[in-house]
Amino acid sequence: MPDLFRRAPAHTSTPWRSLLSVIACCAFVFASAPPMPAQPNNIVPAQIRYDEAGRTFRMDAADVSYIFGVNQSGELQTLYWGKRLRPADSIPEARAEPGSSAFDLPVNATPQEFTGWGGGLVVVPDLKITFPDGNRDLVLHYVSHAIRNNALTIVLKDISRGVFVELEYVIDPETGVLARSACVENRTHEPFTIEQAFAATWNLPGSADYQLRYLTGRWAGEWNLQQSALHPGKVVLESRRGSTGDEVNPWFAIERGSQPDQDVGDVWFGALGWSGSWQINIEEDWARRVRVTGGYTPFDFAYVLAPGQSLETPKFYGGYSSAGIGGASRLLHRFELDSIVPKAPHRRVRPVLYNSWEATGFDVNEANQEALAEKAASIGVERFVMDDGWFGERKDDHAGLGDWYVNPQKFPHGLRPLIDKVHSLGMDFGLWVEPEMVNPDGALYRKHPDWVLNFPGRPRTEGRHQLVLNLARDDVRAYIYGFLDKLLTENDIAFLKWDYNRNWSEPGWPAAPLDEQKEVYVKYVQNLYSILAELREKHPHVEIESCSGGGARVDLGILRLTDEVWPSDNTDPFDRLSIQDGFTYAYSPGLMMAWVTDSPNWMNDRSTSLEYRFLSSMQGGLGIGANLNKWTPDDFATAKKLVAEYKAIRATVQAGALYRLISPQGDSEYSVTESVARDGHEAVVFAFLHSSQQGRPYPRLYMRGLDPDAVYTIQVQVGKLADSSVQRASGDYWMHHGVGVSLRGDFQAAFFTLEREGTQ
Ligand code: GLA
Repeated sequence: MPDLFRRAPAHTSTPWRSLLSVIACCAFVFASAPPMPAQPNNIVPAQIRYDEAGRTFRMDAADVSYIFGVNQSGELQTLYWGKRLRPADSIPEARAEPGSSAFDLPVNATPQEFTGWGGGLVVVPDLKITFPDGNRDLVLHYVSHAIRNNALTIVLKDISRGVFVELEYVIDPETGVLARSACVENRTHEPFTIEQAFAATWNLPGSADYQLRYLTGRWAGEWNLQQSALHPGKVVLESRRGSTGDEVNPWFAIERGSQPDQDVGDVWFGALGWSGSWQINIEEDWARRVRVTGGYTPFDFAYVLAPGQSLETPKFYGGYSSAGIGGASRLLHRFELDSIVPKAPHRRVRPVLYNSWEATGFDVNEANQEALAEKAASIGVERFVMDDGWFGERKDDHAGLGDWYVNPQKFPHGLRPLIDKVHSLGMDFGLWVEPEMVNPDGALYRKHPDWVLNFPGRPRTEGRHQLVLNLARDDVRAYIYGFLDKLLTENDIAFLKWDYNRNWSEPGWPAAPLDEQKEVYVKYVQNLYSILAELREKHPHVEIESCSGGGARVDLGILRLTDEVWPSDNTDPFDRLSIQDGFTYAYSPGLMMAWVTDSPNWMNDRSTSLEYRFLSSMQGGLGIGANLNKWTPDDFATAKKLVAEYKAIRATVQAGALYRLISPQGDSEYSVTESVARDGHEAVVFAFLHSSQQGRPYPRLYMRGLDPDAVYTIQVQVGKLADSSVQRASGDYWMHHGVGVSLRGDFQAAFFTLEREGTQ
């Protein structure tokens, strides 16, 4: 690179982050739930530089370089995204590609950073507008740029109209993850309609050998990892459900090479920060050029911008790893915990919680919750959460939603006695809510039938006997904020499990002006985010879990405002191995709650030992959801021991570096994870066996991510080693000679740690 590059110091602040760091100052800290361990301070700072001569922008952070320039046509052209280059490496200036024939115009052959639909563009555009005169041509060219506080801003403008687009790039110094977004502004004299608005186009280096991974699912079967070769054509990942959805999660990873390795190889990945309907397109052309675009789904989308108004897209995060898909996950995990979630980077570890749902269902009352609370406290639980059933006329899922008063039959003295009891047992108290929904059989709906999403004169399709409140409406927003604020003000509540149990139907907003009715897709989510932000500001000690019938609302947008997620209603400990494994491709184990529930489990009628169930759940944030009234004294003793052991290793599991030693994907008989502490002082291993076959021994395990020269001592907490004669050895020994575990039978599990010497 020529020396002409101007430097600017890097940082990762955004308005949200500043707000949340203020919140962090007032955080309530549990003695038994310490903050996450600090990050070793070996981060090379990020740099953003601009070369005036070549009109080239270069961002370098962690192991990543991202470079683009302005070409002779005025387009913003991607020049490089991948492994960090040397400072002196020179990149050819941006030059529009010529195209190969009359069918392949330069505008499509040139990898552009952000395109308007206009001229001869036939690839997926980022922005599509219809102007009031019927003209739909939009051609965006570079106008100016600014480098401020580690954010690079580029302004594009249509070649004749006052349509301005401000592109923002913020690079994370620790991981090289880029956050990109666009803000469209109408500086014409008339309103126009945005028909499609994406955050960014990511252009990958040319290759004919890419593998795409993404995550699909359904209720109680979320986080299925899909993998397929990329070919010319287009893959569309999308939710049209009004929320993130579990059918596809807004995350992708693209690996170079036909047989990608977990921890070796080039991987580009990305995730959208948006909790409404969304779309990601992965488009490959005849020349094997791959472009990824994403933002609001264009399906049923229209957003009218009056003169002077602007629309901001969701953030589209993108990253690169040279350490395979495993390395990509580890970067994302670190980025999420250190830069996305509230209170980052110093949030608490997840407390061990108890949840009443699988024990008492809707049938909660003061006596049965207090009895469960006593038992939960006896095994070391730190947070007691009462699930559905405590409010309105809630006896089952037919009634109650929307009527957020405490049910007087179940809790004659309000929530206070239960909360006091929970506190007296040394736990904090959490409560289930589903604020965005209403049962037609309820007082709120009878009073405000117009508050739900609906098309007048058409049926109102129910899901789980409930309808979706139209949160885009200001009165609905005020109602929801109002009842939650009151609940949190009047009761000492430390945690909300915020549920959302259906998809949208009939997404009409009849009270809005005709041309603004489709804005419901954007304004609903904006109001959801603003309620969460306002509640967090006013009640800074409250933590929130995002739940949507399991994992149907997990994305980097909701995670800016919530502390953890419920990945699946499926609590079968064997099914959970692959569900949790899939989850961690995109999201940190430190965000993922996992409960120990009853055996046989309701999902598959499968019986497993309590130890097996615990070890499965100890791979994330541990919770207990079993009916403790049925436990034997032995069960309590086992649980107490394992909860204590979990507390000793949870910081490593939740915030450490995850290595998938054996993946449970593809009906594997085995599943093994290893988590290495951030400061390297220990590694924690969980190993699972589905069923022994033909007397085959359990596969030997080769550790990863250890310091080759340090000495580690092995300690087995559950299970036994095939040969226990060597207890102390070097990192190289454990990584290359490996560990033999003796696991035989059906649904067996082991748990051991490697402690580095000299660190305690
Ligand atoms: C959803 C959640 C469950 C439970 C029920 C309560 O299904 O995912 O965990 O809270 O609602 O109705």
